[in-house]
Amino acid sequence: MPHFEKVLKDPVHDEILVEDPWIWQLVNTAAVQRLRRIRQLGTSYLTFHGAEHSRFTHSLGAYETMRRLLIHLQQECGWPSDERDRKLALSAALLHDVGHGPFSHTFEAIYPVHHEHWTHRIILEDDEVRSILSEVDDDFPLDLVGILRKKGRHPMVEPLITSQLDVDRMDYLLRDALNTGVSYGRFELARLLRSLTLVDGQILLRANALHTVEQYILARYFMYTQVYLHPVTVGSDVLVFQILRRAAELIKSGELPDVPAELLAIIGADEANVSVADYLAMDESTLLYAFRTWSKCHDEVLADLSRRFLHRRLFSPVLRSEPNVEEWAALRTAARSLGFHPDYYVSGRASEIAGYVYRGEGILLLREDGTRTELSRESRVVRALLPDSEYRIFVPKEVVEGTGPQFDRVRSILFNRTL
Ligand code: NI
Repeated sequence: MPHFEKVLKDPVHDEILVEDPWIWQLVNTAAVQRLRRIRQLGTSYLTFHGAEHSRFTHSLGAYETMRRLLIHLQQECGWPSDERDRKLALSAALLHDVGHGPFSHTFEAIYPVHHEHWTHRIILEDDEVRSILSEVDDDFPLDLVGILRKKGRHPMVEPLITSQLDVDRMDYLLRDALNTGVSYGRFELARLLRSLTLVDGQILLRANALHTVEQYILARYFMYTQVYLHPVTVGSDVLVFQILRRAAELIKSGELPDVPAELLAIIGADEANVSVADYLAMDESTLLYAFRTWSKCHDEVLADLSRRFLHRRLFSPVLRSEPNVEEWAALRTAARSLGFHPDYYVSGRASEIAGYVYRGEGILLLREDGTRTELSRESRVVRALLPDSEYRIFVPKEVVEGTGPQFDRVRSILFNRTL
């Protein structure tokens, strides 16, 4: 049989290599190809114009990172020794995000089913994906879901795809940094992979790679504070959330005639009644088309919110403490007096900045003498990265910039100034 080989050019890894026709079949399923139509960073492109990369590119990148890691582990530690483990690890990396929907995290807020749940359902229920996975054996799809759910039955594969040092994060940090154009997300991927080793069935990092892993942890910290939780992006998410919330309410009361069928099958239906095929039929183009349609609809709130998104007239963030009950009431009254429906035009969000988690899931280092230690014990820098939270109120830009006594009054409440 001629040697099978597909080489895909990639901006992060230079080349992505597929030598297994089985992996290539998975890449070419409709479910994986759909990820081309879902941006990796949701609304971030409204803040960083380069952030147009798709979840498809990240899925391939996670696969390639896993492929390189497996080659290293096999050479150094003799694992994976059997083809099934190798296939579990590679397909877990390729499929780990297959359940993401358009503007995922925002969509989850309006339709409370987590994308990971859809990933599991797609693996188990999508005919095309499931039949390819089942070529290995009948238990394979269920084992794969077990790995993504961290069930503990594959203790060597699981941490490679879901831990604080996994191929998912390694790829998205580099890819998101490259595409947004920031420099914070960079770290030495090849050295990090080379420093991983396997002892007694446990993935460990050689202690002499301390600075490399510090760089990686800091990269993640900066990407969270500077990119993922950028106030303009959070404000864009709030806007998408308010559009979907308003639309869902109008759909429920039968007042919104122009809704794409793909969206109608999901909004307003119980999750149990939504088929995997229905879910996969929806991508970012569905939502963007809906926003465009709604920008001309009869409902003034929905039309205005949709236009704000399409023309990038985003909500402005105001950093402050969470308002108390009186402050909220005053803010809502003031917004109403300016003609803004307070339910949709005034909202607050807390952004949680992820720190390094050492309890139970810390990164384990292997010293030269064979003893083990945990990363935060060895690194002052990592110890200092505690989880943090920031609160912001989001309002239309006009509220922050408008002139006149009514606007002054709103701002005095917003910025916590005494009246
Ligand atoms: Ni991912």
